[in-house]
Amino acid sequence: MTTRREFLKGTAWLGAVAALGGVAKAADEVAVGGNMAGFAVKPIETVRVGVAGLGMRGPGAVHRLASIPGVKVVALCDLFPERVERQNNWLKSNGYEEAASYVGQEAYKAMCESELDLVYIVTPWKMHTPIALYAMEHGKHAAIEVPSAMYLEECWALVETAQRTGRHCMQLENCCYGEIEMLALNMVRKGILGDLVHGEGAYIHDLRELNYLDPAAGGYQNYWRLKWNAQHYGNPYATHGLLPVMQSMNINRGDRMDYLTCVSSDQVGMDAYAKVKFGETSWQARLNPKLGDMSTTVIKTVKGKTIMVQHDVTSPRPYSRINLLSGTRGIIRGIGRDYDFQVALADAPGEGAHAWADKETATKIADEYQHPLWKVAGEIAQKVGGHGGMDFLMDLRLCYCLQNGLPLDMDVYDLASSCAVAELSEKSACNRGASYDVPDFTCGGWQTAKPLGIESVSEDMVNRLIAQKDDSALNV
Ligand SMILES: NC(=O)c1ccc[n+]([C@@H]2O[C@H](COP(=O)([O-])OP(=O)(O)OC[C@H]3O[C@@H](n4cnc5c(N)ncnc54)[C@H](O)[C@@H]3O)[C@@H](O)[C@H]2O)c1
Repeated sequence: MTTRREFLKGTAWLGAVAALGGVAKAADEVAVGGNMAGFAVKPIETVRVGVAGLGMRGPGAVHRLASIPGVKVVALCDLFPERVERQNNWLKSNGYEEAASYVGQEAYKAMCESELDLVYIVTPWKMHTPIALYAMEHGKHAAIEVPSAMYLEECWALVETAQRTGRHCMQLENCCYGEIEMLALNMVRKGILGDLVHGEGAYIHDLRELNYLDPAAGGYQNYWRLKWNAQHYGNPYATHGLLPVMQSMNINRGDRMDYLTCVSSDQVGMDAYAKVKFGETSWQARLNPKLGDMSTTVIKTVKGKTIMVQHDVTSPRPYSRINLLSGTRGIIRGIGRDYDFQVALADAPGEGAHAWADKETATKIADEYQHPLWKVAGEIAQKVGGHGGMDFLMDLRLCYCLQNGLPLDMDVYDLASSCAVAELSEKSACNRGASYDVPDFTCGGWQTAKPLGIESVSEDMVNRLIAQKDDSALNV
């Protein structure tokens, strides 16, 4: 296993990161420099947010954040001035104050140096860590889209910097707030599935059209995702399926991921698609991306559980994150009540867990164990939107925790260990599925860290949200 000490010995670049400039603000409450389990800062009454990256995903974040009581979007940053302007126009026409504009490749630096509390990062993957490091070095909390880091070196840098500066560094894993993911978590916490043995997650999403879409026509900026797929192997996008399972299994809070192995299929689907869509001699058909169509990673935890994580953005298949938890008393799987949700409990009358519960029983179980956050804010979240409401619940809960001085639901160790899968799965898949150790980013802290209770938000917050908006403004 790579320890932090061994890792630091070989990484001169971290010095450069530390020297990025600016004096980090000391932590408000909790001693820094050590383990951040349960880390919280003083309540921030009005959370001032700067959003970096206003492409396909960023604008929705601006709209969701602006609508949360006690949150102000005070800064907007992108490479393109028209994207910043469009969001400022949206803010103004919806009754919010205009935000400061930052435009250009390094404009995020001035934004991070300005007066705000949270830098919310929605850029291409390669810019996630540099912006987050700069934000924390300048006393700001960082919330980073998935995957927040692509390399082990970046994972360690984020952990080290969060610890040293006493800033939050959270991965924006919206899938942890999906209705069935939260239902599963609640059932696990109540012991309904018994002791967990195995979990499965995935990102199976046919992105062929989007990956090749011209950036000028609204595709990924400068084809960043296609370029990543062209150069890498393994699973670059593990966190959607993995992090909800990690939360249910108390990973980094009583257990931790020990080692993993990954095997990938060859890539055939991208080439086949490109040849038909763009012609045999097109640059798309000749690109031949490295990333295998289907990648399967298996992780073993120190306490003996297994997690299977898949990635396939190439095959014509229905969308799936699998989201399966299997324990000594039952099994749950699925991502949507009316989509693919299934449950089977050993104590059920008749066949027990030999057959999935019928629809009526499954609905009863889903109602009975619905997570408190979904109970109090599910309806408004679905109205606001963002992947069926989970994006909004994530933002709502993040801001609620900051406003109330609570630990966040996902800390920097969750970020680092889930993102470590990108590099480790690539190494394993390139090496006939050899096993690789997952670093202990908590440096032993997982043994004493208490499981996070993913609580809820106050009804007052939800009522204020409902009261301040008419329905059309909520539909972002
Ligand atoms: N959680 C989810 O469900 C979900 C869904 C979609 C995308 N994402 C993530 O969101 C991120 C953005 O994805 P996208 O689809 O919006 O990509 P995109 O290419 O559409 O948008 C990226 C934006 O970042 C801007 N940008 C690039 N470099 C920048 C810099 N140095 N400073 C400021 N802005 C910069 C680009 O100009 C562009 O507008 C990715 O990390 C992606 O994985 C998450």
